[in-house]
Amino acid sequence: MRDFTSSVLDHIGFSGIRAVFDKATQLEAQGKKVVHLEIGRLDFDTPQHIKEAAKKALDDGLVHYAPNLGLPVFREAVKNHLLKQHNLNYSEKEIIATMGATQGVFLAMGAFLDQGDEVIIPSPTFVSYLNAPRFFGGVPVPLEMKAEDGFQINLKELEQKITNRTKMLVIISPHNPTGTVLSKETLEGVADLARRHDILILSDEVYDQMVFDGEHISISTLPGMWERTILANSFSKTYSMTGWRLGYLAAPEKLMSAMLRVHQYAVGSSTAFVQAAGAVALNESQDCVKEMAAILAERRSFLIKSLNPKLVPVKPQGAFYFFLDVRSTGYSSEEAVNRLLYEGVATVPGTAFGAGGEGFIRLAYATNLDELKYAAEKIEKVLG
Ligand SMILES: Cc1ncc(COP(=O)(O)O)c(C=O)c1O
Repeated sequence: MRDFTSSVLDHIGFSGIRAVFDKATQLEAQGKKVVHLEIGRLDFDTPQHIKEAAKKALDDGLVHYAPNLGLPVFREAVKNHLLKQHNLNYSEKEIIATMGATQGVFLAMGAFLDQGDEVIIPSPTFVSYLNAPRFFGGVPVPLEMKAEDGFQINLKELEQKITNRTKMLVIISPHNPTGTVLSKETLEGVADLARRHDILILSDEVYDQMVFDGEHISISTLPGMWERTILANSFSKTYSMTGWRLGYLAAPEKLMSAMLRVHQYAVGSSTAFVQAAGAVALNESQDCVKEMAAILAERRSFLIKSLNPKLVPVKPQGAFYFFLDVRSTGYSSEEAVNRLLYEGVATVPGTAFGAGGEGFIRLAYATNLDELKYAAEKIEKVLG
């Protein structure tokens, strides 16, 4: 039999995060204790009122297809949220409910990329971005972000990456894996280049409620940027709803109409009763979000205090990750991860996040303080 696999997959492997998770699970099966700092999934349950809303929606009969863009009640909730949060004015036709931000990324790439179009991706980066363009004939162009620049986008280097095939630039803030929040200055520089070179921005803001230092600014609020920005967000992190698969995109109608056509044929519409619960999440008290952020802030402070400063040249400002610099230990990222795993702490090699990741490992502080204390001791033992 022939190998039926598409050649598109020649350059697309499995996620490096999964690889560590699988190894850690094997160790656990052998009876070893492992602290899981590799997976970007919070240890919090979804708040009860959101679960109740989903149950009620099911009982109310929300079991059929939703409109392709999403339930009106969901889009209205997102619209009000974006207005309140950023003073951004989107109509309900300019918001689409997606199956998590991950699917939103595919919509944006599917709607706008032609064969050979380049997508600049500041790297290291969240794994989806390295591969998503390739499914649509696009070419990911990594732009290395360095600890020496505080993991901000280097604007000079960004300009050098722009060619006449550049169609899109992805920005993530707060950032996975570095935890960096893009500064106003960086965002203004990026916006200036996007306007001058007529580039679309895909702005991933899934960690916007987890900022501990600095300020989250949506690039679409900057002059001339609303019209060229696709804002992606998700319920996964904000409300600890990774398994629900709910996110959204907001973009001007012309851009949305293209993405809607991809969405219609890719999934039709995202899950109706989940959207109803998402609307409740946005419309009701945000105390649950503040409580989760306060716990994360405490964990972050603990790690900043406990970890050897040489491992943390850039303090993460948001999200729930540390991108530890292991260059001074003499270990490669892979070696550092393996040694830590042997001591019962699972992390991810920076190389899993693409260019600029060698010499770093990612730690997600999505687990309780006791586990983090244990992990911090082991990190000191192995890398300190
Ligand atoms: C920066 C970033 N964007 C998007 C996602 C995917 O989120 P979702 O669960 O909404 O697909 C993640 C998940 O870790 C992420 O870190």
